[in-house]
Amino acid sequence: MRKPIIAANWKMFKTRDEALFFVLKVSEDMPDNELVDTVIFPQAPMLRCLITRQGEELKIGAQNLYYEDEGAYTGEISGPLLKSYNVDYVLIGHSERRQHFSETDEDVNKKIKAAIRNDLLPIVCVGENLSDREKGNTNKLLEKQVKKAFKDISAIDMKNIVIAYEPIWAIGTGKTATAKQADEACGFIRDIIKNLYGDVVAGDIRIQYGGSVKPENIDELIAQENIDGALIGGASLDPEKFIKMANAPLKLINKNI
Ligand code: 13P
Repeated sequence: MRKPIIAANWKMFKTRDEALFFVLKVSEDMPDNELVDTVIFPQAPMLRCLITRQGEELKIGAQNLYYEDEGAYTGEISGPLLKSYNVDYVLIGHSERRQHFSETDEDVNKKIKAAIRNDLLPIVCVGENLSDREKGNTNKLLEKQVKKAFKDISAIDMKNIVIAYEPIWAIGTGKTATAKQADEACGFIRDIIKNLYGDVVAGDIRIQYGGSVKPENIDELIAQENIDGALIGGASLDPEKFIKMANAPLKLINKNI
């Protein structure tokens, strides 16, 4: 069994005090990080204060980074800066960045390379919109996004990468993909990785599902063969809900031993 990874993408929510309150509230109740990885992605200015207070089990990640390591890029965040704050993970290619900030597959590829260069663990987001799905273009779109994202990335580097399948039509809509739809798409992504990198990498790489995940549906989603965790937006803002979702994989692990 691949190690499950449950991540909270807070997007542009929470002030400093709200974030500190949240971390204080959840840190005692996080699962053992030998068994489950748990990560919070706050807004960038909160990285520093959370990193010193998150406790043993919880990791902190950035929602974005720029693909150059330094330079005249006002407003951007560099990989070396994130690393110097002991940030572990970085989200790359979230659909909101693609949609509102015009990020392209080429940008995603360059950002993955920047993350690897700076020893950050990327969670790379892919996913189709409603019209792609309705036209039957989901697989074609996923294949394009995955191939372009991982162009020139070595098999060794792929081992530290997590992929998040996030269908855009399920994000923030309350309309979750069914467990079957999510598993099929994650399985398809795993097959693309198998064609590119072989059985071992495809067997090891972790693929999360994201899109209206909540305590009521997480168990069924993460029980699917190809789904290794969840990337959660709205429901991750509530500490009680996050505690429940972070601990959800333990039920599966206990069942398997
Ligand atoms: P929601 O859980 O709010 O649908 O957001 C999903 C998401 O975009 C996580 O990155």
